[in-house]
Amino acid sequence: MANEQALVDPQQRFQEFFKKEKYRQRIAQLAITGKASIAIDFEELYGFDQALAEQVLNRPEEYLTHAGKGAYEQLRIEDAEHAEKIEKITVRIIKLLGKEQLRKLGSKQMSKLVMVEGIVVRATPVRPMVQVAAFKCKRCGTMNMVEQTGQFLKAPAVCAAPDCGRDGPFEFTQEESTFIDSQDLRLQEKPEDLPPGQLPRTLAVKLVGDEIVDVARPGDHVSIVGIVRAFAPSLMGMGKLRTFILQLDANSTEVLGKEPETSPPTPEEEEKIRELSKDPWVHRKILSSIAPSIFGYEHIKEAIMYLLFGGVSKNLPDITIRGEMNALIIGDPGTAKSQLLQYVARIAPRGLYTSGRGTTAAGLTAAVVREKGGSMSLEAGALVLADKGIACIDEMDKMRPEDRVAIHEAMEQHTVSVAKGGIVATLNARTAILAAANPSLGRYEPNRTVAENVPLPVTILSRFDLIFVLRDVPNKESDAKMSQHILEIHRRGASPVEAQVDAELLRKYVSYAKTIKPVLSDAALKQLSDFYLAMRSAGGSDESGGSPVAITARQLESLVRIAEARARVALRAQVTGEDAGAAIAIMKRSLEEVGIDMSSYKMDIDLIMTGRPKSIRDKLSVVISTLMSMEKQTGIVEKDALVNELETTHKIPRGEVERMISQLLREGTIYEPREGCLKKT
Ligand SMILES: Nc1ncnc2c1ncn2[C@@H]1O[C@H](COP(=O)(O)OP(=O)(O)O)[C@@H](O)[C@H]1O
Ligand SMILES: [Mg+2]
Ligand SMILES: [Zn+2]
Repeated sequence: MANEQALVDPQQRFQEFFKKEKYRQRIAQLAITGKASIAIDFEELYGFDQALAEQVLNRPEEYLTHAGKGAYEQLRIEDAEHAEKIEKITVRIIKLLGKEQLRKLGSKQMSKLVMVEGIVVRATPVRPMVQVAAFKCKRCGTMNMVEQTGQFLKAPAVCAAPDCGRDGPFEFTQEESTFIDSQDLRLQEKPEDLPPGQLPRTLAVKLVGDEIVDVARPGDHVSIVGIVRAFAPSLMGMGKLRTFILQLDANSTEVLGKEPETSPPTPEEEEKIRELSKDPWVHRKILSSIAPSIFGYEHIKEAIMYLLFGGVSKNLPDITIRGEMNALIIGDPGTAKSQLLQYVARIAPRGLYTSGRGTTAAGLTAAVVREKGGSMSLEAGALVLADKGIACIDEMDKMRPEDRVAIHEAMEQHTVSVAKGGIVATLNARTAILAAANPSLGRYEPNRTVAENVPLPVTILSRFDLIFVLRDVPNKESDAKMSQHILEIHRRGASPVEAQVDAELLRKYVSYAKTIKPVLSDAALKQLSDFYLAMRSAGGSDESGGSPVAITARQLESLVRIAEARARVALRAQVTGEDAGAAIAIMKRSLEEVGIDMSSYKMDIDLIMTGRPKSIRDKLSVVISTLMSMEKQTGIVEKDALVNELETTHKIPRGEVERMISQLLREGTIYEPREGCLKKT
């Protein structure tokens, strides 16, 4: 830099800077706050002395020391008494003028002061680190104080006592040593900084000092200013490697706002957003802009639209009710589930695509992992990383057993709690979930219940606001349309249907809409309440007396969320009757798809809860009772005879009887004592 031979003493220059009224006050208050550090805004320093500020960036180690000494000198003037008590002041720089891309950090930035932003994916607990180690010479008893740097604890080479000078042995003495709090973090690139199709990179960050440790938790978005360092990893017994690993020695940490930061709309864009919101066809237009290359699936795209906008979360003093929605698509292979999910992850503000297994050790929720050195650290999984965004979980049925347990809390309370390996923490996971699952038998069996079709426990299924089933059934008409659509894509290399709202505007539209908190109008309230009560009584008045619960409070809350989301799409502060109507319609559609017959109004949420609808349960009990009464007459019952009996006297179609029999066999309710014969267990 130009100013190599600085004419003024940098320490004095810093002291002048600290004579500004604002900093004088802060320095004077150190005694009250009990702190030993002072934060300065880089921009302010730059305005004060550009050359000095540049030196801080280029030779941070040296200049931060000057800065600390300058602040300390000022402290001696402001509060000499306190200056006696503390030995030094650490100066922390916040908000550099520009940030470095995490993936671009390299040898060029080594030993420089940089600012990076990212998500904390991993954090160790706060641990004491030796600052000055006391080593007692075992030969003469002298205490040798050794200032520590680097990764490993350094013992003195020789005893400092003039009349000793021998090379030990030395004994580390904890009581005489001084410690400082330290913590290791792993910072990952934010999804919004990620070039398309690239895996996120991570960076190790070392935090030292009680003001900066424990500030950020896994899942937090942070801005860290620090010195880029490199250290050579050593290979057991072979010395150090020539290729170094980068690490950021943090000087300051700031937790950033939790909202996904999309650049705010320009005045023209805001105009476009307002105009679009007033369009009576706004819902259709936005819906048709979601994955236009994917043919059909209007109802699923509608659900995705609601999921993108989300409902309003309610934070009451005693409880919180999530506003984010969860939707599940169960479908045959090759029905574009993965394509849909990937699309949504791309367009959603803070969207994240992951497979059920997750892409890291932390899976979907969180995990305590053992670092190379043997220490434990807490790692955030996909739902924590997608906090305040949308997590698209493909093949959710394949999630890890640990996640199966932990995901309940994440889906309803929006937190992930961990208590393992000495780490106890609760992380935020205020995430909307769009999940896909493959049927356990390869294809969706319409005669089986959802719970039988998907290897997911009913406790998880019941936490989805909407569930849809995609079946790949040959159909002349729609097959022709679909093949034409797909072939057209291949020929033109573009979607035959154009999005009416482009992805960039849509993302801004969503962020803009999310600031609105729609409230239920009287009309909407009445519609939802009428529907809910009708469903409840429809279930209760079941003539067989079994009283299946048709619909639960969970569905009522889901309806409210959907209606609120629909109002948001039109940037309305009121949820209208129309919104409520649309919410009811899509909820009905979802309930129908999971096998509830809406036309007869015999709804049965039991199906999701117990994994079997009452209507099927009734039929199964007919099969069992028929089998038992036939057994009384003939002992062992021939399968064919049972099928005939059920078909003629109970009017249950042959195919369905066969399926029920194989289901009962699988469950072990009945068994096959001989080929072709059946008996109740
Ligand atoms: N409705 C559809 N519209 C457009 N493409 C489709 C449709 N259904 C399937 N495809 C195509 O079929 C392929 C398989 O989709 P994929 O998302 O991998 O299916 P899944 O995850 O459901 O097994 C993709 O290339 C997708 O584009
Ligand atoms: Mg797939
Ligand atoms: Zn000695």
